[in-house]
Amino acid sequence: MATWSAPGKVFLFGEHAVVYGKPGVAMAIKPRIYVTVRKSRNPTRAKSPYIEGCFREMGVRGSVYVRSMLPSSSGLGSSAAVTVATLSAINDEFRIGYSRDEIASAAYGIEKKVQKGKASTTDTYVATFGGMVLITGDSKRRLPPVNMHLVVGCSQVSHSTAKMVGQVGDMRNKHPGIVNPILDAIGEVTMSALHTFAKPKEFGCYMDINHALLEALGVGHPALTRLVLAARAAGAYGAKITGAGGGGSIIALCPKRAKSRVAGAIESCDARAVLTTIDTDGARKERTA
Ligand code: MEV
Repeated sequence: MATWSAPGKVFLFGEHAVVYGKPGVAMAIKPRIYVTVRKSRNPTRAKSPYIEGCFREMGVRGSVYVRSMLPSSSGLGSSAAVTVATLSAINDEFRIGYSRDEIASAAYGIEKKVQKGKASTTDTYVATFGGMVLITGDSKRRLPPVNMHLVVGCSQVSHSTAKMVGQVGDMRNKHPGIVNPILDAIGEVTMSALHTFAKPKEFGCYMDINHALLEALGVGHPALTRLVLAARAAGAYGAKITGAGGGGSIIALCPKRAKSRVAGAIESCDARAVLTTIDTDGARKERTA
């Protein structure tokens, strides 16, 4: 029996712009998904297409048990985390010998198949390696970890990443002279924010600018606007949509003392608040009883 876990992720900066080769920063966050795999003569049928994809990829059969601390369908990378944790647990239980890079790339292949070609390499990379990651075009580089107090607000409004990415693409085709400068500006915000990790007020200011630019791209939602405004009013340094938008989640950077106040403000908007910080571990073996 082998139990592995993988973290969720948030985009700190640059979602949507990364699709057009601009820089972005994503970070692994603490709620994790735990997956136990066991060799078994009577394997249980996996209910998830991601888990089925993992067993098919590895060419074995076994039983699987999933325990998730990560809200699903919230833009926090839960499908990537479950895929990476399952592949890692199968790899261990059946002594297959995949490297971390191979796990990340197999997980991306599975996500891409299940999501009909629309997967993000960022989600599977962050779930596998953890920490903070700078995305530039096709390359990804881990940045020195920074401990920050974040509150995630899950709007509970369902959304589709593929739909939102398609919508931004259509808008760009229709208004390239407007949309391209917005994407460039998001890239500039990311690069400027990289120098302000130790200055939370400035960092928060860049988050607010990034949020406004995402709204200009048309990926806002009234429920997300409400959460962002509530978080700022409760004392956050800054708040923005995280991920594809149109629903899903926001993140707020908070002074330590304001974390619970910001979480309360988010929950009073009928949303779910998750207090979190960076998770420097990626896929990790857990002790099994
Ligand atoms: C979704 O979490 C982030 C997007 O930039 C899509 C992607 O990076 O693949 C909208």
